[in-house]
Amino acid sequence: MGMANSIRPTVYKVPLDLIFSGPFPAASAPWSEVPLVNLEPHMSAVRAVLQRRGGLDAYWEYARTSAGQTGNGPADRRVWEEEVARRIRRYARGWMQPPPTVGWYDRDRLILEDGHLRCCVYKVQGKSWIRAGLRPDAASRWSARPTEPLMRAVARQKRKSFYTPIDHELFRRRKSSRKGTDRLDLIRGFLGPIRGRPSVLDVGCNIGYYSFHLARQGFDAVGVESDAQHFEVAASLRQMYGLDVELWQGPFESYPRTRRFDVVLGLTVFWHFLPPEPSPDLQGPARILVEQLEALVGHTLIWESGSRASEEIDLICRNTGLRHFTLLGETSGTGVERKFGVFTRVPVNEAVAQMRRAGGEGTGGPRAQMPSSSAAPDAVSALPTPASRAD
Ligand SMILES: C[S@@+](CC[C@H](N)C(=O)[O-])C[C@H]1O[C@@H](n2cnc3c(N)ncnc32)[C@H](O)[C@@H]1O
Repeated sequence: MGMANSIRPTVYKVPLDLIFSGPFPAASAPWSEVPLVNLEPHMSAVRAVLQRRGGLDAYWEYARTSAGQTGNGPADRRVWEEEVARRIRRYARGWMQPPPTVGWYDRDRLILEDGHLRCCVYKVQGKSWIRAGLRPDAASRWSARPTEPLMRAVARQKRKSFYTPIDHELFRRRKSSRKGTDRLDLIRGFLGPIRGRPSVLDVGCNIGYYSFHLARQGFDAVGVESDAQHFEVAASLRQMYGLDVELWQGPFESYPRTRRFDVVLGLTVFWHFLPPEPSPDLQGPARILVEQLEALVGHTLIWESGSRASEEIDLICRNTGLRHFTLLGETSGTGVERKFGVFTRVPVNEAVAQMRRAGGEGTGGPRAQMPSSSAAPDAVSALPTPASRAD
């Protein structure tokens, strides 16, 4: 570690959804800079121990290959498994000291230096905010996020609540109609680790929650919102998060058909386009919706329904080339039971592969600028771990 990293980190409460894995050595590079839900070796180990789902194979493979570089790998699998399980259970009981360390703040992501396994325990426990120690440079950038435009917009609108959460300590206790994370996890789980810069169009983006999260993951994101007040909040959040997201104000019906997007999000918005009663004739807003989808969706449409899910599914499957529907989960919010899934032009696995190719997977997309002196993060070394590297 460089000089800066020998200074004690400052502890902040931070949203778990903004935490990304740190830079791993070459053998584990696929797990570098990914959201916790995509950190498969660690997540699968935590699920295996706490929920008895699956096993420790992926984490074992990770520990051995990563440690191969230091010549310090675990030798006896049984002994190693017992130690891993003990550690995970201890974290699950609230063993907090020292808190996980964030080494870098980049593209509004908090990138871990240490504490991966612990963060995955918190994730599986359903926590949304955690205490983390931020290194000096990360702390000064994190605490300097500009809040004035947002505070002004919220005051002018006399806004008390939001549809989705705002990822800033000042708004941690504000009401939001939807938690956000359940759907974010479904999306992140479906997309997998993102490399390169695929494009996404977020229809009815509201205050931009998903546009911003996908931009943090490297997407070239455009949010479309017709409501002026939501749009104003989204624009001030863009400034606060410092993210390069294009926001377009107006009805989706008028969004220009100039290019196809790798991914389109239509979450809880297409119900606005359904006729008041089910109808065999395609007309009015429903017709415009399917024409827009046909023109704008490249590989994948990620969708959440209103209360008439099967009518929305029929409308899209019958009237666009997006004929393959895959249900990812059942969600609920604002008193409505909803369906959450994806529409693709080809079978879903082929569509994901196409999307990854389009994003330039493997070509090394935008990565954080980190000091090259940074040591490999935690859990790389063989157990028992040194005290300074708790997980
Ligand atoms: C229930 S909210 C869902 C917000 C966001 N998609 C989410 O799921 O978190 C629906 C959003 O779609 C917007 N909306 C409704 N009709 C629209 C249209 N024709 N064009 C663009 N946005 C629209 C609304 O203003 C609102 O912000």
